[in-house]
Amino acid sequence: MRIGILGATGLVGRETIDLVARAWPTAALALYASRDQTLTIGGVGGKDHEVLAAARLEEAGAPRGDVAFVALDDEHSKRYVPRLLELGYRVIDKSNTYRADPNVPLVAAGVNHDLVTDVVRLVSNPNCTTIPLTLALGPLQNHFGVESVTAATYQAISGAGVAVLDQFLADSRRAYSEPDRLGVRFDAKAYAGNTFPHNGGTDASGFSSEERKLTFESKKILRLPGLAISAQCSRVPVAVGHYEHLWLTLGKKASLDEISAVLADGSQAPFVRWFAGNTGDGLTALSCVHDRDRALVGRLRADDRDPSGRTVCLTVIGDNLRLGAATNAVRVASRWYRSEDPDLNV
Ligand SMILES: NC(=O)c1ccc[n+]([C@@H]2O[C@H](COP(=O)([O-])OP(=O)(O)OC[C@H]3O[C@@H](n4cnc5c(N)ncnc54)[C@H](OP(=O)(O)O)[C@@H]3O)[C@@H](O)[C@H]2O)c1
Repeated sequence: MRIGILGATGLVGRETIDLVARAWPTAALALYASRDQTLTIGGVGGKDHEVLAAARLEEAGAPRGDVAFVALDDEHSKRYVPRLLELGYRVIDKSNTYRADPNVPLVAAGVNHDLVTDVVRLVSNPNCTTIPLTLALGPLQNHFGVESVTAATYQAISGAGVAVLDQFLADSRRAYSEPDRLGVRFDAKAYAGNTFPHNGGTDASGFSSEERKLTFESKKILRLPGLAISAQCSRVPVAVGHYEHLWLTLGKKASLDEISAVLADGSQAPFVRWFAGNTGDGLTALSCVHDRDRALVGRLRADDRDPSGRTVCLTVIGDNLRLGAATNAVRVASRWYRSEDPDLNV
């Protein structure tokens, strides 16, 4: 099996290299980024990988392959995905480029992976907030129906890529090293020590591209075009781990015990780790970097504003680099080539 990883030196690409080694240990890897370089994973004494400029794929006689994981920005996905398909690869693209294309399946493994059949050549990986959200909503939709969703997100800085994450870490180190109880030493226009609107790509509706992605993608994955869903997204000063508060109205009344039973059952709610009770103990953004391939879900409570008893509050957390990106892509590819690590099969 010949596997290509584009964007191999980025945050998601590096996670993909690790997961591919677990899933298909004997596969031949071809790694690509902006230029020829050596990538060392694991610090001093770590493993060196040869990385090639992705532009080499455009040369006549570029090597063919079986599966390509593409972790590039939209512009470069548009440039390289068609070429990878020409070279015989089946492609999983992690950018926004193909998510709205009606001819491209948008797949959250564990929710709608049935769409990944043998004839499919290109799959789009959803946004990193959408994947944990739909893993929680999918089983609830199957059992009770989901009528409406309101989401507030608290998203990690790594969602913006390695350069922004490194700047955030450097800014945090500098500002936290000074005694300052107010935070005046932090830049109010930067991420360190701050909560920030996720406001890139705000359109005439007033909602940002992140907010529009979360709502559009959830409807597509859950096959609920009429779902009433609205989101407000923010970034918080956390390196990895997207945190989402939800207010959900189910299609029919269900007790908290009935809802818990569905979300706690791995056969009905795959890739979900259920946190019982209503306090959210252990349900922190950072807890997901110790449990990287599941959505952490809990803090279930009744929303007393709804006299029909169908509305509940819930918290969902996911590692944006793994569950929200690389792990999902590898699980999707396991539909074509079974993974040797059972946790990476779907
Ligand atoms: N970060 C997340 O939480 C997350 C989650 C879900 C989806 N995604 C999506 O996944 C994609 C990658 O995100 P990321 O966070 O991993 O980004 P990143 O850390 O910024 O990495 C970007 C990658 O793109 C490569 N690249 C840049 N310019 C290139 C060029 N001209 N030709 C070929 N490769 C080029 C970089 O290579 P060099 O090192 O050589 O510059 C690097 O490998 C994006 O579409 C993002 O929206 C990210």
